Amino acid sequence: MERKIYRVVRGMRDLLPKDLVAWRRLEAHAADLARRFGYQEIRPPLLEETELFRRSVGEVTDIVEKEMFTVERGEHSFTLRPEGTAGVVRAYVEAGFAKTAPLQKLWYLGPMFRYERPQKGRERQFTQFGVECIGSLDPRLDAECIALAVRFFEGLGLGAAGGLEVRINSMGDGDDRDRFREAVRAFVAPKLAQYSEDSQRRFERNVLRILDSKDPRDIELNRGAPQLIDFLSDENREHFDKVKGCLGAIDVKVVVDPTVVRGLDYYTRTIFEVHYPALGARSALCGGGRYDHLVEQLGGPSVPAVGFAIGFSGTLLALQELGLLADDEPTGPDVHVVLADGVTELEGLLLADQLRQAGLSAAFDAEGRRMKAQMKNAVRSGARLAVILGPEELERGEVQIKDLLSAEQSAVPRAQLPERARFLLAQVPPTQVAP
Ligand code: HAM
Repeated sequence: MERKIYRVVRGMRDLLPKDLVAWRRLEAHAADLARRFGYQEIRPPLLEETELFRRSVGEVTDIVEKEMFTVERGEHSFTLRPEGTAGVVRAYVEAGFAKTAPLQKLWYLGPMFRYERPQKGRERQFTQFGVECIGSLDPRLDAECIALAVRFFEGLGLGAAGGLEVRINSMGDGDDRDRFREAVRAFVAPKLAQYSEDSQRRFERNVLRILDSKDPRDIELNRGAPQLIDFLSDENREHFDKVKGCLGAIDVKVVVDPTVVRGLDYYTRTIFEVHYPALGARSALCGGGRYDHLVEQLGGPSVPAVGFAIGFSGTLLALQELGLLADDEPTGPDVHVVLADGVTELEGLLLADQLRQAGLSAAFDAEGRRMKAQMKNAVRSGARLAVILGPEELERGEVQIKDLLSAEQSAVPRAQLPERARFLLAQVPPTQVAP
């Protein structure tokens, strides 16, 4: 019978133990920063009703038109979340926060799913770290949000020096948007036939999406298009000026880029992206902005909000390119048990169990290796200590304990093994001792 090799689904990947060293670093960094900025974690489910994304992200967007992983079950249609904002806002409304504690600063980290063409830094399952600050229009919160994203990258060594660019813009709101939409329509109309099929189709239903097209023809045709920033009402311009003022005050460097439009429909006022230009056409590591009507659109009261999401795939690529990813292997156990000939194999399990019960990590050989090979394996595993048991030690109720860094070895009564191991593990490794 032919043996079939099963492969991971295209655009998705396995994170192996060695990959997870860097991932955990990002996860811990994200959680720590979110805490420092006063955010609390939220974990909505990965699956939501499809309708939720249609209403929030927008019917006429790439995500909703082409990229959703949707399952139908009877009457119901569910979709694996393509982004986190919609679910968080749904949860905000459902939990009744608007009545009890309207200002909520929430963060999340986890997988998102989009049926995109897999390419450098773009996957069909990818991880986002996102924050949503729901309940205030205060421009200091827009600045705080942008600062949090920037500090995330800076903390990884990926600041402006690494070539990172923070681009901000304002989408305006209400009237400004309507007037802008008309101006874009008038700009596109005479050459509509030259635009990509997608853009032609979107002309009637969502003309602003044409400005966000990634099609090279469209990008060329869009040169010289009207810019929303020229249509802002006094109130929205003032809000944007305050955001920029706050960013200046906390020394977060940004460039105003009127071509930033974002690909999701819910945005209003401040929008921003953090780019690592070396990644090419899809260089955004982070995107976000205000969405002052989404809570209301999803059935809640009128509550403004601002947030962002950082993609881990792009961030890791940037770190790798800049040589900022340490090549760390996962760390081995604290202690490796080594058994000499003439000792029953069960002793390996017993010693490891004794150490584990005392809170240490321990491993034993399960591949039938000779003692010498067990020692080699102990060293290779990265364990700091080897615990060696031979027939003589067994008889005396002792074990040998060897510091694999200093090569010092001594006998210790079995009952005192965990205590002795803990003492040795606390010693500065000899390689780190000052000369
Ligand atoms: P987004 O711009 O669609 O915004 O995604 C944010 C970031 O997620 C992107 O800048 C990119 O780094 C990463 N990303 C998106 N798609 C992929 C993919 N297929 N593979 C790898 N990385 C990807 C949002 O998702 C909004 N919910 C952000 C937000 C939160 N706005 C307000 N609050």
